[in-house]
Amino acid sequence: MCGIVGYIGSKNCVPILIDGLKRLEYRGYDSAGVGILDGGDAKIAKYAGKVAVLEDNIARMKMDSEIGIGHTRWATHGEPNQVNAHPHFNSDETIMIIHNGIIENYSDLKIMLEKEGYNFRSETDTEVLVNLIDKYFKLGNSLFEAVRRALKKVNGAYGIAVIAVNEPDKIIVAKNGSPLVIGVGENENFIASDVTPLIPYTRDVVYLEDGEIAEIKKDSFSVRSISNKILSKTIESVEMDVDEISKGSYPHYMLKEIMEQPESVKNSLRGRIIHEEGLSKLGGLIGFEERIANSKRIIISACGTSWHAGLVGEYMIEQYAGIPVEVEYASEFRYREPILCKDDTVIFISQSGETADTLAAMKEAKRRNALVLGVCNVVGSSIARLSDAGVYIHAGPEIGVASTKAFTSQLTVLALITLMIARRKRMSSVKGREISEALLQIPDRMKEILKLNDEIEKIAEEFVDAKNFLYLGRGFNFPVALEGALKLKEISYIHAEGYPAAEMKHGPIALIDENMPAVFIAPHDAIYDKVLSNIEEVKARKGKVITIANESNGKISELSDFIIKIPKTINMLTPILTVIPLQLLAYHIAVKKGLNVDQPRNLAKSVTVE
Ligand code: AGP
Repeated sequence: MCGIVGYIGSKNCVPILIDGLKRLEYRGYDSAGVGILDGGDAKIAKYAGKVAVLEDNIARMKMDSEIGIGHTRWATHGEPNQVNAHPHFNSDETIMIIHNGIIENYSDLKIMLEKEGYNFRSETDTEVLVNLIDKYFKLGNSLFEAVRRALKKVNGAYGIAVIAVNEPDKIIVAKNGSPLVIGVGENENFIASDVTPLIPYTRDVVYLEDGEIAEIKKDSFSVRSISNKILSKTIESVEMDVDEISKGSYPHYMLKEIMEQPESVKNSLRGRIIHEEGLSKLGGLIGFEERIANSKRIIISACGTSWHAGLVGEYMIEQYAGIPVEVEYASEFRYREPILCKDDTVIFISQSGETADTLAAMKEAKRRNALVLGVCNVVGSSIARLSDAGVYIHAGPEIGVASTKAFTSQLTVLALITLMIARRKRMSSVKGREISEALLQIPDRMKEILKLNDEIEKIAEEFVDAKNFLYLGRGFNFPVALEGALKLKEISYIHAEGYPAAEMKHGPIALIDENMPAVFIAPHDAIYDKVLSNIEEVKARKGKVITIANESNGKISELSDFIIKIPKTINMLTPILTVIPLQLLAYHIAVKKGLNVDQPRNLAKSVTVE
């Protein structure tokens, strides 16, 4: 979703803003712009399309300033064209704003401002907000106070940055629902919607909370609440390398992130297993273990890939810890009347830690007094900060829009949580050791699968023109079928459905003919024979079968057109392995179709609006 970056200091801000916008490209966007103050003038350059288009155009303009703001827009109100791109000016072009989020009452505010003589150029809610700020500024308020007063009239989500010709020594920023972070430098300060654009310049950051507004100058910053209370904020240090957010020698972030999985899972496990005792030790849950283990019920809530991880978590926790688990889309959870009590634990899973639906569901669960745990990747993210306790998955920055390494790390952490609960309940140390040993072996097993990359690329070649795909799995691998289908849809735009394999005969079987590829996830587990029967059903109808299996001979080889043979592990951990060939298959099909796998159309990495 929209990306925000800003600079105030003694350097020319324009290259810094462009560099920042490039680092924010992964969030997904359709237009980009920068705005600067230049003496008594304000200048904006903005274009539909990629940051490169903006950069090319700026090279031909005279833009040089020590204060500026930049934005990548993911269209919500109005199509992705130049007029709707950010920054937006007030009517007389003296104040400019960039905005991430949605102002829900913008049409009422627009009507009110129109009556007062304001005109609008764009279809955006953001232009309404900058003119509302203008109204309060013209009443004689400081820029800070004008922004604060305007925001008091606004319903909705926002992360904003505002600069004005008449107060050229400051950037005003505010947050409600959309992330905003201040980067603290020496004699220079930065703002951004996440830390990635800040890393080349500073590691010292201040995270704004909802309802906070800050005035940022070159050598200082101050934060107040929207009700004007002075707040003291802590400067935190971010641990991240520039290397971690670059593609290195890989053609795409997605491939790099798929290939990084042995390492990212190792990082998820690091220091968290006491193998001799078959135990897991999760620092972020210390003090909460008993309460979690004694929960009457565990609810897991998330969106997209994180929701798929939650489904695997359900199978893990119910089977080994014996606590009933429900998995719910965060977007549904937040809008019904969920029955929650203080004996319930709700686990929210989110790579970004900023997903608006997940965040809202989390607030709802807190309001209803459940114990709220976060399983997040991005350190310091809103969901991580709001949870009562939690576990970081430590997958490292995930830049490709299609989630890959975060998924396998989420599964790893869910296995560790299962182990933690189960060992407190009914699991023996022998069983605990079996799981911990299997977990420790996972990174090496992953490496073996990644060696199949070329083989999978060849299989992908056969399916570039497919129009539909079915993904089928059972038990722990039913969620993997959903995840495989999602990966293909997201980056190749091929229609794909995931189903529990046995459910196929209740409807989807009608789709099967010689043009329908079906991917079966069939590790050698307790229901392997049943899955073989499901494959027979597809074969009997001339479907093309690709199978992910632990063996490549016997019955399964007769039935499959293509077999991807992967190493064995214990049942509950199979999803961490079986998903890898599906990630690679989707990746290669999309690349062969000539598509932008890292920034697929219409998608955003971090979905910060409802
Ligand atoms: C996955 O490939 C997606 N792009 C998407 O479904 C994602 O998993 C979802 O938006 C949730 O994001 P989160 O984990 O950052 O909360």
